[in-house]
Formats: sequence, C-alpha cells, structure tokens
Amino acid sequence: MEILQRRSTTAQVWGAAEEFIRLFHRETPGSGDPRTRLAAVRAELAESGTYRHTPQELVHGARVAWRNSNRCIGRLYWNSLRVRDRRGLTDSDAIAAECFEHLREATNGGRVRPTITVFAPDTPQSPGPLIWSEQLVRYAGYGDHHSVTVGDARNAPLTEALLRLGWSGGAGTPFDLLPLVVQGVDDKPRWFDTPADAVLEVPIRHPDGDGGGDGWADWGLRWHAVPAIANMCLEIGGIHYPAAPFNGWYMGTEIGARNLADADRYNLLPAVGRRLGLDTSSDRSLWKDRALVELNRAVLHSFDRAEVTIADHHTESRRFLTHLEREERRGRDVGADWSWIVPPISGSATPVFHRTYEDRQVSPAYVHHPGAQDRAQGRDLV
Ligand code: ARG
Repeated sequence: MEILQRRSTTAQVWGAAEEFIRLFHRETPGSGDPRTRLAAVRAELAESGTYRHTPQELVHGARVAWRNSNRCIGRLYWNSLRVRDRRGLTDSDAIAAECFEHLREATNGGRVRPTITVFAPDTPQSPGPLIWSEQLVRYAGYGDHHSVTVGDARNAPLTEALLRLGWSGGAGTPFDLLPLVVQGVDDKPRWFDTPADAVLEVPIRHPDGDGGGDGWADWGLRWHAVPAIANMCLEIGGIHYPAAPFNGWYMGTEIGARNLADADRYNLLPAVGRRLGLDTSSDRSLWKDRALVELNRAVLHSFDRAEVTIADHHTESRRFLTHLEREERRGRDVGADWSWIVPPISGSATPVFHRTYEDRQVSPAYVHHPGAQDRAQGRDLV
C-alpha cells in the first residue's frame, strides 16, 4: 500500500481507505465482512471529503504504522502499542497538557510503555495541529557556533528562538528541559513549560566507578527515560494525523553512542577518554572505540540501577530477527533500512548486520513532515 500525501483528492483518499479497511478486516479476527464498512466509508467520503476511523481502526492503523517503520529495530512488540485517542483536541494548550500526560503514562514509574497519542486529523476544512518540537523531551543548547555550547547543540537553534520569544531560560545546566512548542488549529505556535513531574531522568554513572569515587557522579551526566518523537505525521488509509507523538523505550546506543558521543551533540568521547587515562593523541590507540564502550556500559548500568527500561543492542538485534521470522510466518514482508537497523557500535557483532533488507515504504506509516527540521529548530518562530 502506498503512502498518500497530505491534501490528496477524494479519489486518492478512497483508494487508500479501501486498501486500509481491507487490511484491517484481514488482520482483525471477528471484524466481519469489510463490505458494509467500505460502503459506509464511501458514503462518508462522498458527503464530507473525509471519513472517521473507528477506535479499533485507529488502534490497528497506529500499530501497523509502527510495524512498517523501516528504520526501527524495536518492532517485535508493534502489536502492543498503547493508543491514546485524543482526536477531539485541536487547541495548543489542551494538546500540550495531553503530551505531558502521555509522558507520565508512558514513563510508568520506569517500566516504559510504548504509547502514542493521536490528535485531530487534517480535514478538507483545515489542516490538523502540529507539534514543532522534535521530541516531547529535549534538552536546551545554549550558545552558537561562535562559542562553546552548553547542553545539546542539536537544540541550540530552538533554544535561541524560545529565548527570543520570551522563555526565560533554564538554570543553564547541560540538561535544562526545553518547553514544548505546539501549534493548534488556526493558531500560531506557542510554548509550554515542561512540568518536572512529567519527565523521569536517569543519572549516568559508570559501573566501576559507583562508590569508587572516580568522578562520574560529579560529572552530572543524565538522560531522560522516554524517547518520544513528536513531529512525524501518522498516515492511515489516506487520513493524516499531523500531531501524533509516539514513544518506545531506549536502546542504550542511542544515548551512549550518539546523543552523548556525537561531536555535534554532547561530544563526550575526549573527556571520557581522558578520564579513562587513554592515549588520546593517536587514533591508532583506539581511544575513541574504548571510550564508546565504557560510555555505553555506563548508560546501561545507570538505567538498570534506576530500574528504567532500556534495551542493549545485542538483545534488541536478536528480537528484531525474531520479528522477521514471525512476520514471515504470517506471510508478511518486513521492510528495513540497513543503515538505521545496524547499531552504531559493534555492528558486526550483532546478527542484524549479516544480511540485507528491502527498504520498501508502505502505509499505514509515520512520515516526516516537509519543513519539520526547520520547525524543530524554531525557524520562523518569531
Ligand atoms: N534516537 C532518538 C534519541 O536518541 C530516539 C528515536 C526513537 N528511539 C526509540 N528507542 N524509540 O532520542
């Protein structure tokens, strides 16, 4: 099934709707003959130019969109995604409040639950609401390329735009929570302070350093428990839900090998290398590789110690192969993007490395909004 663009014709929406309704009925035991439902959808489309998914269709559509996410290694549990139906909400303040409630429910005291909240869809009358923030939880980045950035350099442009808009800024630590930016229907984007009780954070320590006083504790490193992508569009059967934030749980390498390690993020490898007493003067000492391993040990150890769900890349790779087998048994092809599936460290030590995948994009799907990157950086916010 092809992914439909926003603002399609009624005929195109009908084509996509028909395919989705058939898929829903094929995959949902007890859902009966699709013909009755198809006739109703057809009439509703002719009458209004759009149609409303039943709650069951919405749940299955959101889950299948996860199943179809070629870049995601964590899809084994696609069928247990919790779906929060908030399609009635169009205003930024109500949406922000529900995003924070999403975080509380998804965090679940540390037993992270994959969850999506679906807000109002596009209609022929009006585009739906939008979340500008890339994720529900983001750390500020202070400073620009002229000075050293404190915090997450990825979010420096958004931080700057928010400060210009009147946000008074955080305490100036490397891990200040940014407000959430939401654009309601018929409104301009607004920002909402993230309540501290909506965000669980894990202090990062090294297993060999705990109690041993090697200084990891004083470093003040931390990361948030829940990765919740907020600026992708959920497309189901020709209907677009432009605001539909979703989360899974973290795989350690996302934090230890990317967020804290990338040179244009927290860039911690040189500091970790020095802390470990490695020879950082030559690439050939493999100090970066050794620092990466220790940083990733620290991330996994810290989440375990805090009793917050996190996967390691070996386990998650094995689960992905189980997912492939299971889907194959059900007669479904699994698309995947090798460059995203293979973990950023120790790739060849995981089974997902040693094979190829077909990267076909099918619907239902989570798709990137055009211009999402610009909005996530707060461009045109003022
Ligand atoms: N890589 C992103 C991050 O580090 C999160 C992407 C989604 N990850 C997930 N485990 N569901 O924040």
